[in-house]
Amino acid sequence: MSEGLAFSVNGRQVCVEAEGDAPLLSVLRDELGLRGTRFGCGTEQCGACMVLIDGEPSFSCTRPVETLAGKAVTTVEGLAQNGTLHPLQQAFLDEQAGQCGYCLSGILMSAAALLRKNPKPSRDEIATALDPHLCRCGIHNRVIRAVQKAAAAIAGGASA
Ligand code: FES
Ligand code: FES
Repeated sequence: MSEGLAFSVNGRQVCVEAEGDAPLLSVLRDELGLRGTRFGCGTEQCGACMVLIDGEPSFSCTRPVETLAGKAVTTVEGLAQNGTLHPLQQAFLDEQAGQCGYCLSGILMSAAALLRKNPKPSRDEIATALDPHLCRCGIHNRVIRAVQKAAAAIAGGASA
């Protein structure tokens, strides 16, 4: 057993006991009980496991937890604030931008990072930001509409 490793998850300090080479994804799901982040491929090919690390989209399936000391991780559970959905979550619901939903946690995280950096992304910029994400259900057009709708909501004052 390694010494505890401290970092923050969704604004809360955590100290985990996992081995240093354990992937962040398994620590989130199995040690911290945050099951919103999904396992798809385990090889950075599908985006299901995407989280934010210090605000940057990062594959959690291959990220050794020992690299996270002092860093800030945000998962899909951290998007809603004070019981209010993130504008992206609301827009995805409004646009019904999901079918099985397996891919959505990861897509939401990449989209949240995009809107933070680029509040008015073009359709191409949205597609590029979401390129690491595979969705077998064919929701791509709805996802792009939802991201555009969230961008408009944030521009109109919705807090992200
Ligand atoms: S599970 Fe990480 S990219 Fe597929
Ligand atoms: S909604 Fe099913 S994989 Fe994307």
